[in-house]
Amino acid sequence: MIADISIIKQNIEQDFATIKDAESLEQFRLKHLTKKGTLPVLVESLREIPKEDKPAIGKLINELRQYVEATFKEFKENLEAEESSVPLIDTSLPGRMPLKGHIHPIKKTLDTIISIFEGMGFTVAEGIDIEDDYHNYEALNFAEDHPARDMQDTFFIDDPRGDILLRSHTSPVQIRMMKSHPIPIRSIMPGRVYRNEALSARSLAEFHQIEGLYIDKNVTFADLKGTIVAFAKQMYGNNSQFRFRPSYFPFTEPSAEVDISCYLCSGKGCRICKHSGWLEICGCGMVHPQVLKNCGIDPEEYSGFAFGFGIERVTMLATGINDIRALYENDIRVLEQF
Ligand code: PHE
Repeated sequence: MIADISIIKQNIEQDFATIKDAESLEQFRLKHLTKKGTLPVLVESLREIPKEDKPAIGKLINELRQYVEATFKEFKENLEAEESSVPLIDTSLPGRMPLKGHIHPIKKTLDTIISIFEGMGFTVAEGIDIEDDYHNYEALNFAEDHPARDMQDTFFIDDPRGDILLRSHTSPVQIRMMKSHPIPIRSIMPGRVYRNEALSARSLAEFHQIEGLYIDKNVTFADLKGTIVAFAKQMYGNNSQFRFRPSYFPFTEPSAEVDISCYLCSGKGCRICKHSGWLEICGCGMVHPQVLKNCGIDPEEYSGFAFGFGIERVTMLATGINDIRALYENDIRVLEQF
């Protein structure tokens, strides 16, 4: 028996010498290690050995088994290490340029607007998206039954506190600023706003606005006009024409809307401007005395102006994209053009 074991060992050693790849490794495993393989059969044969020889023979078999298993494992690991060090990259192929991300057109517009207003001494402030009726409407002079509330289809939130909503414009940030900051206030307030609108090429239910607010002594409508035109010339170029049209917002008096000459037809009239030659860019006005009072500011002593832009609108004008949805579909073929 002892002689048998040493022959088996020799055979196994010869077979070890043939292992050179995954296939020969597997051949070895099938021949020696699986259930019907040399080693398990040898271990099994221990049963037939007379009792008195068992300890000695058992020890030999056990040593052989340990040696074979350890050596097999070593072969296996060496082969695996070799395989993983085989280069997976064919360095002779031409290189592929990694895609470099870039700033989204909406963020780009926002950054440009912010830097223009910062150049005029405005700071940037932010409010909150989930507002209450007081800040979004009441303090802005929208009485409870004010029809102007219908101008902005509001998303209300089912909340035990009641009157909680997704802000329909950035104007509630004006209220928060006037209540918490000392005068003078000269800030712009960008953010997301929400309206229950049907989705179309011109409108989305979620979009961005940027609010502007300037409160100090002796602020006049001329300051408002000068600021907006100075901004718009930097944004759209010196040759753009502007017009202020009377309008209505409950929180400004007087109120106006500002139009810019159409970027596509330079005012001659085309599809984009609906043949009027003009595109609306913002709402604005002098802060209503009642709104100042609501925020604890004396309208006899102070005055101010406010304005609000839709950022998607400005982006569409700047990029020539004429379907607002294209700004949100994240189609790389569209976005990488800007
Ligand atoms: N909040 C107004 C809107 O969403 C825009 C606006 C802002 C008008 C500030 C006047 C002053 O339509």
